[in-house]
Amino acid sequence: MTQAHSTTGSAPAHKPVPLFELATQWQVIRNEVEAAIKEVLDSQQYTSGAASGPFIGRFEDHLGKKLGAQVVAISSGTDAILAAHMALGIGHGHEVITTPFTFFATAGCISRAGARPVFVDIDPKTFLLDYSLVEAAITKNTKAIVPVHLYGQMGDTAKLADIACRHGLDIIEDAAQSIGAKDPHGKQIAENARCACLSFYPTKNLGAAGDAGALVTRGEKLAQRFRQTRQHGETSRYNHEFVGGNFRMDAIQAAVLDVKLRYLDRWHDRRRAIAAYYDSRFSGTDIVPPYAAPGVYHVYHQYVIRVPRRDALRDHLTQNGVGCNIFYPKGLHLQACFADLGYKRGAFPQTEKACEEVLALPVFPELTDSQIQRVADVILAFYK
Ligand SMILES: Cc1ncc(COP(=O)(O)O)c(C=O)c1O
Repeated sequence: MTQAHSTTGSAPAHKPVPLFELATQWQVIRNEVEAAIKEVLDSQQYTSGAASGPFIGRFEDHLGKKLGAQVVAISSGTDAILAAHMALGIGHGHEVITTPFTFFATAGCISRAGARPVFVDIDPKTFLLDYSLVEAAITKNTKAIVPVHLYGQMGDTAKLADIACRHGLDIIEDAAQSIGAKDPHGKQIAENARCACLSFYPTKNLGAAGDAGALVTRGEKLAQRFRQTRQHGETSRYNHEFVGGNFRMDAIQAAVLDVKLRYLDRWHDRRRAIAAYYDSRFSGTDIVPPYAAPGVYHVYHQYVIRVPRRDALRDHLTQNGVGCNIFYPKGLHLQACFADLGYKRGAFPQTEKACEEVLALPVFPELTDSQIQRVADVILAFYK
């Protein structure tokens, strides 16, 4: 297999393999990123607010062209989800359907907006919201559905859009982990939804030098509303039509992201090649590799296996210097802060089973061939 961005060559087999690191990538992009940051500092134009420079708009244009959509730069992925709810008028008295098998922010933002998160279990094969269970959870108070394109994979967006359309609901995609992904029919984020929320947290496939995010939509009016929402609901200077927040991305993050965006396709190719390599090593064993539905363009933000004796395998990997992690060890329905929602253990069996069996392996693009070979060797040795 090719090593699209390996600058270090083959690492000795005994060297630790981290779950994730940015130092190798930094050597490749350093000159361009430093020049981009210097341009911002020299301009002294730091925000997307009133005294904005060109940096935010430039990044929004470039990413928008790539996604065929309008992009509104936001301060973080979390803020993007919250701002989407505020902009669409979702709040007190409303219910929002989502998955309990996700990062906390998904349901945290529904709750912060004032609405009630209503959880629906996942499809055990893909780990995504089980669309076949969604309709039964819809009530007269349901306002929206928030599917999460977990680990870099999208479900069949037309299927969910059909349900949403029949019930007059909005779809807000949590695409924090899935920039560049495509569903089984080639649809991108925000194609069959009102909007999608991106995160550029540094570990993401496109990562900033700090916190950043974006809202993506194909609606011109909604994009304008998102721009107002990120600026306290302002329509013209000091006139506030509704309550928004300070959800602005800063110009340094936009400049860094604009550089890194140029590398994204190559990084995705490498992630997909690493995933294909692991798939081939694990086939015919007790290890269940991630299921990618036919036709999807999976961007492998995480490469997550499902295994027997997961915790023992995790200890074995740690002892052998191979990084791994559990995304996620606890369903959101069992979080203390959501106790008042009334869910009990056993409410979502597929989520609870996944929490006990999943393990994420190193899949970042700068991994060398010998590193991924070592990851597979150490895992297969455990099950021998
Ligand atoms: C599924 C999901 N939703 C939301 C977020 C929140 O994004 P951020 O960390 O940029 O606020 C993340 C980030 O980890 C995520 O993975």
